[in-house]
Amino acid sequence: MKNEIVVSGIRSTGNLHLGNYFGAVKNFIRMQHDYPCFFFIADYHSLTTHPKPADLHANVKQVLVEYLACGIDPEVSTIYIQSDLPEIAELYLLLNMNAYVGELERSTTFKEKIRKQPDNVNAGLLTYPVLMAADILIHRAAKVPVGKDQEQHLEMARTFGNRFNRMYGQDLFPEPEAFNYGTSLVKIPGLDGTGKMGKSEGEGNAIFLADAPEVIRKKVMRAVTDSGPTQPNQEKPEAIRNIFQLMSVVSSADTLKHFEDTYNACAIRYGDMKKQLAEDMIIFTAPLRERILELSRDEDFIHKTASRGAEKARESASATVSEARRLIGFRHF
Ligand code: TRP
Repeated sequence: MKNEIVVSGIRSTGNLHLGNYFGAVKNFIRMQHDYPCFFFIADYHSLTTHPKPADLHANVKQVLVEYLACGIDPEVSTIYIQSDLPEIAELYLLLNMNAYVGELERSTTFKEKIRKQPDNVNAGLLTYPVLMAADILIHRAAKVPVGKDQEQHLEMARTFGNRFNRMYGQDLFPEPEAFNYGTSLVKIPGLDGTGKMGKSEGEGNAIFLADAPEVIRKKVMRAVTDSGPTQPNQEKPEAIRNIFQLMSVVSSADTLKHFEDTYNACAIRYGDMKKQLAEDMIIFTAPLRERILELSRDEDFIHKTASRGAEKARESASATVSEARRLIGFRHF
């Protein structure tokens, strides 16, 4: 076991899909055996879009259960709910004092949010990177498994950590870096012909781990294809490459080769290929789905896991916050 600490946050918006699984969760499951890992459900972050109080708890539970079902082992990793740790909110407040509005306004995600939701540009959106920095720095993490889209946030976490260290003349926070075992992450395309799998791309683009077999069949059969190749060994257009890419993660090498060969010989029938792909996706997701359903009913296990996780996470969080407070100059009377 190496001693660098790993932290990653999972937003509690919507169910996990195959893209999340192959792009992130699979790596988490491997990492937990190599590093001390903290994985948390980022429910404070989800408040920027004002979820209904009645939905919040169920969203958090769903994400927690799905990560556990995938194999995050609470005996090995520390898995917790962000809002169970008030220490994170405190570090966020402290870091906010040295985060400049100008630099926060330059964040690409913030600019995008302004464009997408001009009627809800709240201060939480502006300071999202500060909260994310608090999430990471609270455990003095060195490694953060995140995708490319989070690189800039991570850069800001380094900036805020370094600035704090410089201001108070001590190396409290290490520099967190992106980490995915050096392999570029597998990109999982969606079913609509272009781009990656995502829940915001519309119903039917993503296969969720909790999807029932008939739902998977329906979605896959509707996946975008074309009228088929006309020349042997013809290059594949994006929509077709996507179907092959999906097959390469859930089907056997033989199956994949069979369809490669029929494609190259211009004898492919996309209907057959999609039928096979759907069945292989079902075989892959079935045990996960079963485990998700089983865990969702086990309130006692969920309660124990969340409270034990919070307790473990709080040990490291409160040590960091005490040290930050001491350096800043707070003293008890
Ligand atoms: N911003 C991340 C995302 O959108 C989620 C996140 C919040 C996170 N806090 C984090 C990721 C800390 C890694 C570390 O996916």
